[in-house]
Amino acid sequence: MKLANSIKELHHIIKAVRREGDSIGFVPTMGALHNGHLALVKRSKLENNICVCSIFVNPTQFNNPEDLKKYPRQMEQDIRLLESVNCDIVFIPETEEMYPNGEPEILFHFGELEKVMEGADRPGHFQGVGTIVKKLFDIVEPHRAYFGNKDYQQLLIIKSLTQQYKLSPKIIGCDIVRENDGLAMSSRNQRLSSIQRSEAPHIYSVLKAAKQQQLDVESLKLWVAQKINTNSLMELSYFEISDAETLKSIIKWDKNQRAMGFIVVNMGEIRLIDNIELNI
Ligand code: PAF
Repeated sequence: MKLANSIKELHHIIKAVRREGDSIGFVPTMGALHNGHLALVKRSKLENNICVCSIFVNPTQFNNPEDLKKYPRQMEQDIRLLESVNCDIVFIPETEEMYPNGEPEILFHFGELEKVMEGADRPGHFQGVGTIVKKLFDIVEPHRAYFGNKDYQQLLIIKSLTQQYKLSPKIIGCDIVRENDGLAMSSRNQRLSSIQRSEAPHIYSVLKAAKQQQLDVESLKLWVAQKINTNSLMELSYFEISDAETLKSIIKWDKNQRAMGFIVVNMGEIRLIDNIELNI
């Protein structure tokens, strides 16, 4: 596995290892890797000749400076993990090179997609994600790029970015990878205390149970809120039932519409995010 710490180094390595016609699969990350990320690398390896993974804790997508400060950083372990799944190239750029002028330069228009859920709760977050993903795509020039379905709103934002700017990679959303007890894997999980960690699988249990309820949309939202809030370590930030393509709120079940349940639960200062398909 080759390491690149600058754009120049990355281009040099790609030029050296890429044979004519080789496709590049790309897995952008902010590090603190877990099996969810490794599943993206494995999928990229299956579908492309070369896999590039980037590790960059992107400051512009953190609306809360404390969150940025506390974001787990474990570069040596990340490199070992990427090596274990035969990633070909790791790109670890410096902030100065990604943001030579300080703040992001482009204002993206994601419409309704960025006004709801994470967009409403974390102002500027998706502008930051759009900025860095566009920069990384321009640098890496991948044929395919892989993202987890856990951050489903992010996935739709990136698909919209790719369409708007006619960027070349095909965007591939991959299944949520869960711990054995059902908790969706996330870099933030390692910040949970042991008691919080033991309670956290409650979130997915509630989502799975929600899928079995025969309730109208509004009553199901109340049911989920009540189930989450009975756990004294949890505070529901939101549970939305929305259209899988547009993220518009659903008010009435329609069997022709793909409905998804999106949840964010605060455990202390940690935000845990998850989702489930409801009407399949
Ligand atoms: O999902 C993430 O880890 C980040 O939002 C991403 C896509 C790497 C952009 O910084």
